[in-house]
Amino acid sequence: MLKQRIEALRVCLKEHNYRYYTLDAPIIPDAEYDRLLRQLESLETELGEPIPADSPTQTVGAIPSNTFRAREHTEALLSLANAFDESEVEAFEQRIADGLGEAFTQDTLFIIEPKVDGLAVNLRYERGNLTIAATRGDGRSGEDVTDNIRTIADIPWQMHSGEMTVPDLLEVRGEVYMSKTSFNALNTLQQANGAASFANPRNAAAGSLRQLDAKITAKRNLNFFAYGVGAGGRDLAASQSELLDLLHTFGFAVQETAMAKNSKELLARYQQLMLQREAMPYEIDGVVYKLNNFDMQQRLGAVARSPRWAIAHKFPAQEVVTTVNDIIWQVGRTGVITPVADMQPVAVGGVTVSRATLHNIDELQRKQVYAGARVIVRRAGDVIPEVVKAIDVDENAVFPALPEHCPVCAASLFRVEGEVAWRCSGGLSCSAQLKERLRHFVSRGAMDIEGLGDKLIAKLVDEGKLTDIANLYELDYQSLSAWQGMGEKKISNLYTAVEQSKTQTLARFLHALGIRHVGSATSAALATHFGSLDAIKLADEDALLAVPDVGPEVAASIRSFFSEAHNLNVIERLLEKGVSPQAPKIQLNSHPLSGKTIVLTGSFSAIQRRSAQEQLRALGVKPASSVSKNTDILIAGEKAGSKLKKAQELGIEIANEDQLLAWLDWQ
Ligand code: IVH
Repeated sequence: MLKQRIEALRVCLKEHNYRYYTLDAPIIPDAEYDRLLRQLESLETELGEPIPADSPTQTVGAIPSNTFRAREHTEALLSLANAFDESEVEAFEQRIADGLGEAFTQDTLFIIEPKVDGLAVNLRYERGNLTIAATRGDGRSGEDVTDNIRTIADIPWQMHSGEMTVPDLLEVRGEVYMSKTSFNALNTLQQANGAASFANPRNAAAGSLRQLDAKITAKRNLNFFAYGVGAGGRDLAASQSELLDLLHTFGFAVQETAMAKNSKELLARYQQLMLQREAMPYEIDGVVYKLNNFDMQQRLGAVARSPRWAIAHKFPAQEVVTTVNDIIWQVGRTGVITPVADMQPVAVGGVTVSRATLHNIDELQRKQVYAGARVIVRRAGDVIPEVVKAIDVDENAVFPALPEHCPVCAASLFRVEGEVAWRCSGGLSCSAQLKERLRHFVSRGAMDIEGLGDKLIAKLVDEGKLTDIANLYELDYQSLSAWQGMGEKKISNLYTAVEQSKTQTLARFLHALGIRHVGSATSAALATHFGSLDAIKLADEDALLAVPDVGPEVAASIRSFFSEAHNLNVIERLLEKGVSPQAPKIQLNSHPLSGKTIVLTGSFSAIQRRSAQEQLRALGVKPASSVSKNTDILIAGEKAGSKLKKAQELGIEIANEDQLLAWLDWQ
């Protein structure tokens, strides 16, 4: 049984090695590979039999493909053992201390280098000239990629020797990588050309280096960092830090390093780099700790595939594998039905994740997610965790279909033409939509009503106490006192918060209404521009388009919101209950026209009369339809008739369209 499991794991890992190293197209995340490898390691130990040399625990990479000529490295390229937590770093320090005995003191130095996420190459220099460049391959021999390597600007064709004599033969080792900028540019280009995009910079770098046409490699903008030497490097330097300086003098790019004396200092630097990771121009997947002194390194030697004097401390994986328990259909504020994966909790990118949105049915189908699926979950930086795709998709898998009806209120679903999303047609009679609308209405950037959390909203809706937003201002607070957890204090705080929200600003009120495409910034722009709810309600598309940031789609959405009877009714009831959105004061009081009674007459060419009227109203102007002694200004367009005459008779100030436009643009 144990033997069978070991054999199965070896076969599986060999396949993943082949996919990663030879095809540049891994199908599982690195963290999953590491997990499988560790599992194999521990099973092999448990079995206690000699481990065959070709076991993935004993080898590095995969045998080179035969597309490129195989090249034997003069000295084998090793790999690094991994540490995943602090205790493994402490154990590393302890092993070194034990191995070195008295030679290990408080002043023994470790050097810390970022672990670049690219691919290792071996560069052979003869009398200072680059002769052969090969990928790592299986560690003993790799693929000849010399022509492609020559396109990388960080790699000198001829080593810069300066005052020094360069060694007759020197193997320089390092990592070929692709910067984040080049990676994004490449993927944009791939997409524009209808070609598949690369999953990450490492794959992109590997794929680019293994091109048959070096012209293509040249366009990919690869980079290189040197971090070590092989044959010919024995007596060049006494330590890793000296070696890096020397390699730099020879013309190679090297990374910034730090020194440490113990695991505590190693871990402090690790934390620092983890914070800098996002902002770095290239991807790193961990930190490498190396004993700095070469004599000491030599005394410790290597085991199987990795040296004893170095270890890679990996960052929390940004991609992991977990299992989907179920697909849940959520109903959003605007009725959009969203599939959400409920998963076995898993740590990814430093947080534990158990839910991730699948956005829409199309995406769910593309990613082949179903209940029971094993999926890759990704979370990089601060971004929301996402399901990348399912792996090992079961032949008999049953993919969830879009529900036929709203999963909450059973109303039918519809799809707006040109949109991917399906929506519930229940509107506010769908309790899920209502709850979401209310949540949004009371939220921080909106009406900011404290004490009305998700649970209370859900209960108020479920108990029929809230049937729409306007209800909020006619709550029967008395009846709430019978509810558990609703003490007098809580109720009175809630009452105060609801009352106070009545004088919330116009911008927040608009945002709270939840008009599609109108977020807080657009709401603020609308409030400043129009100055009153009435003006916005009446504004036609042209008037709306005059607001900075408002494009045709937003304008249409605003118009459609205010032309729906139900919405107008809710707004009316809110106002009736005493909600009185506060207009931005600055504009109303400081505009030269505010407070004036103005009559418009004749026809205008650059602006529609109605739109002008609305905008004037927003500025605090009182528009009137006939001229009287109370009129402050008459704005006369072309073919103005009797009103102009009357204004002249009464000695009223008369302005033309140009002046009107100037006033409306007035800031
Ligand atoms: S030293 C014997 N230093 O990580 C030591 N490797 O997981 C050999 N890598 O094969 C490697 N950055 O491809 C070293 N600063 C660094 C590195 C680094 C990235 C890669 C390299 C290596 C792999 C091991």
